[in-house]
Amino acid sequence: MKVLPGPRSQLLGFRLSRELDCELVVPEVEKFPDGELLVNVGEDPGDRVAVVQSTRTNEDLVTLLLLVDAARRAGAGVAAVAPYLGYARQDEVFRPGQPLSLAAVVGAINAQGAPLVTVEPHSDPSPHGDVSPVAGAPAVADMVEDWGAELVLAPDEGAREEAAEVAELVGAEHDHLVKKRFSGDEVSLETKELSAEGKDVVIVDDVIATGGTMTEAASMLKDEGAGSVSAAATHGVLVGSAVSKLLSSGVERIAVTDTLETGLSEGSVAGVLAEELR
Ligand code: R5P
Repeated sequence: MKVLPGPRSQLLGFRLSRELDCELVVPEVEKFPDGELLVNVGEDPGDRVAVVQSTRTNEDLVTLLLLVDAARRAGAGVAAVAPYLGYARQDEVFRPGQPLSLAAVVGAINAQGAPLVTVEPHSDPSPHGDVSPVAGAPAVADMVEDWGAELVLAPDEGAREEAAEVAELVGAEHDHLVKKRFSGDEVSLETKELSAEGKDVVIVDDVIATGGTMTEAASMLKDEGAGSVSAAATHGVLVGSAVSKLLSSGVERIAVTDTLETGLSEGSVAGVLAEELR
């Protein structure tokens, strides 16, 4: 096995090659004057190659497709590793006329002849193709284990499993928040069972994008009298002012993993990916 990192996942690619104790194949990625991409993986990238490239942007996705195609045409058996898989949150046709984006993206990657490995997707992608989802919880737990969490909270039901796994790994209680609607515009968030009062709380979600979900949860927990509130997620998309919003809502610490390489990436999913790829 060799690891071939795309431009979006250079650090994680390196860490993964260390975990697997294997060679790193550095591809050339350039652009034509009209903006189209051209990649080169070399004449002989190896028999088995893991192309590692998170797909945060449309360009990242095209880069991944081209790298996989190039490696396969050069004779390699390829696994496509998209630690963060963009478009995964459009996992349903929410309104008539919309696409099932998750299925479209998985299909495009599989069509290059490569199984897909991804980390902590928003929902189970398995029905849409040859995909192996890997849990982000061990990497998140590694980041927060020294934070002294008494209560690990999922901001919604969707993140409950990840939060529960993190809680178990760090030896804390866990619960999730539920939205209660009192009228058309009167909504409140409440912990499902456990009180946050006086407790050091870590909110765990699959992704922080605009920071809206975490900010709302943090403000509510502060109002409820939580001792401290911190935030951790597998994926740090961190759009616009997400970090400022979180910090100004009273969140004391924020950490994300290296599925996307950000200034807040304190943990690595290299270990869980290596286990899957070995
Ligand atoms: C939603 O169900 C997801 O699990 C996240 O809670 C959500 O996508 C985070 O997005 P944002 O940071 O924009 O609120």
